[in-house]
Amino acid sequence: MDNIFKAVRRQLSWNQCRFITTIIVRSLRDTGEITATRADSRSTWIRKCSTQSSKMVKARKYVVMNYFVNEAKPTDLKLVEEELPPLQNEEYLVEAEFFSVDPYMRPYVRNFPLGITMIGSQVAKIVESKNPAFPVGKRIIGNLGWRTHTIIDPKTEDSFFKQKPYLLPDIGDLPPSLGLGVLGMPGNTAYFGLLEICKPKSGETIVISGAAGAVGSHVGQIAKNLGLNVIGICGSDEKCKWLTEEMGFDFAINYKTMPVAARLREVAPQGVDCYFDNVGGDISGTVMYQMNPFGRVAICGSISSYNADIKSLPKSTILQPAILTNQLKVEGFIVKRWLDRWNEGIMQNLQWIREGKLRYRETVTKGFENMFDAFIGMLHGENIGKAIVQV
Ligand SMILES: NC(=O)c1ccc[n+]([C@@H]2O[C@H](COP(=O)([O-])OP(=O)(O)OC[C@H]3O[C@@H](n4cnc5c(N)ncnc54)[C@H](OP(=O)(O)O)[C@@H]3O)[C@@H](O)[C@H]2O)c1
Repeated sequence: MDNIFKAVRRQLSWNQCRFITTIIVRSLRDTGEITATRADSRSTWIRKCSTQSSKMVKARKYVVMNYFVNEAKPTDLKLVEEELPPLQNEEYLVEAEFFSVDPYMRPYVRNFPLGITMIGSQVAKIVESKNPAFPVGKRIIGNLGWRTHTIIDPKTEDSFFKQKPYLLPDIGDLPPSLGLGVLGMPGNTAYFGLLEICKPKSGETIVISGAAGAVGSHVGQIAKNLGLNVIGICGSDEKCKWLTEEMGFDFAINYKTMPVAARLREVAPQGVDCYFDNVGGDISGTVMYQMNPFGRVAICGSISSYNADIKSLPKSTILQPAILTNQLKVEGFIVKRWLDRWNEGIMQNLQWIREGKLRYRETVTKGFENMFDAFIGMLHGENIGKAIVQV
């Protein structure tokens, strides 16, 4: 409808245009297709006409009301509705299908002003488009935050990942939600973090903390495929069983019920060559004191401290003696370091899935209104594999 008015305006004089517009709007009002009143100005009529005649879209989104202090509270976020404007040229509209809930969300929110939409990535379907490169029906992966509908200007990248939304590659019959896990950011974290930072060699021993989560379970499988002895540390017997019986880990240690240092000496008497650290804190100190000379440590995450205030972080064992005497190489990394190789990671992980060399598991929470519970549940360790919310 907007286009009709624009075309009319282009072709006719202003007086002719006013006359014709008035007739069209009156007739639409009389037939009930718009709700403009006689008192409304002509421009208000035109605006109402053009917005009401195209489908109006309302997005639901979670707004950050307070920064998280210790454990996040439901009242730190507020679910609100927002009416979206019509699409401009090159823009497209997406509807979320799956959301990712990730550990980084807990500490990183502080980097943004209050009132922003809660940060996060989603798989979304394109439902309207004015951009031929993003046609209706295709899916994208985007760091669009916790919101159900989003208008995307393809030129804009998100301020956190510095990444533009991208089309989900052709993954055949595999679930699209994998674009948030094994075929997305966590999958690339496992792939690049292990290969580029740990530089694993066949016959070596690797320990992975947070082993039953999205990144950890993936790292262990790649390491196993490369011929390493793989030991996982995680928080329940069910997770330990899953790692050893289904994911191919050689051993798993429940840090909540077992003495990690003693158990590690039993299962890795030869010492540890690589440590993929997802949790930090005392678990990491324990592992690093059992490492071999020239061992490599990839600091991927530090979830044991995420609920702590940055000014009063928990104290843990001093690590310098272990790093110094065994000449360890300890390197932190953030996966966006490899944004220029993003597709390589996705394609390699996809190939491993197709070859039966990489398995995945998702813990799926249903309902957008349950985002917060899924987020807190993941931080509490309720997930096995990737924590996902299905709209
Ligand atoms: N550097 C990067 O670019 C990058 C990218 C992605 C993720 N990460 C990091 O990688 C780590 C894993 O991420 P993910 O997405 O795969 O999450 P995840 O492991 O799927 O889920 C988080 C898990 O952390 C464990 N956990 C929670 N509190 C803990 C604590 N105090 N001590 C030990 N474990 C605890 C829980 O499992 P348990 O039952 O075992 O306790 C929980 O299931 C996180 O630290 C995350 O920040 C880093």
